[in-house]
Amino acid sequence: MKLATGIAVGAVLALGMPIAAHAAGDAARGKAVFLQCRACHSLNAGQNGVGPSLHGLIGRKAGTAPDFAYSPFMKRSGITWTPDELRSYLPDPQAKVPGTKMTFVGIKDAQQVEDLLAYLMEATK
Ligand code: HEC
Repeated sequence: MKLATGIAVGAVLALGMPIAAHAAGDAARGKAVFLQCRACHSLNAGQNGVGPSLHGLIGRKAGTAPDFAYSPFMKRSGITWTPDELRSYLPDPQAKVPGTKMTFVGIKDAQQVEDLLAYLMEATK
């Protein structure tokens, strides 16, 4: 029993997973969460809708998708979109970027945010 626990902890450390910080996201469930975003956001490069294309999002500076008319608030936010910035943006966009024209209430469920992130990490490439 002790040995098994040691092996499990060792395996988690070896994989470099954050212990208890966030439950791992499930990309398949995240795809379903993304249905809430799809009305306004495409994942195709250069295809802007009500919101900017999310292609290439991870590592991109906020407010810089080509040919999209951002609000000045998003452009001036100084954010670079990392998973952690998205974790703080997605639950309440207006709190993170006051004045943003992304009129979306946010995703309040922390697990749904993780699932969505797991999906976006792949789907925005
Ligand atoms: C009602 C339309 C709408 C919905 C729904 C919506 N967004 Fe947005 N989103 C926008 C608009 C408009 C902007 C541009 C905001 C600005 O310029 O202030 C934006 C901006 C963003 C940005 C910043 C992009 C950049 O290039 O800096 C991210 C990230 C984002 N949205 C993710 C999401 C995700 C993920 C969802 C689903 C959970 C979502 N949005 C749902 C309209 C929407």
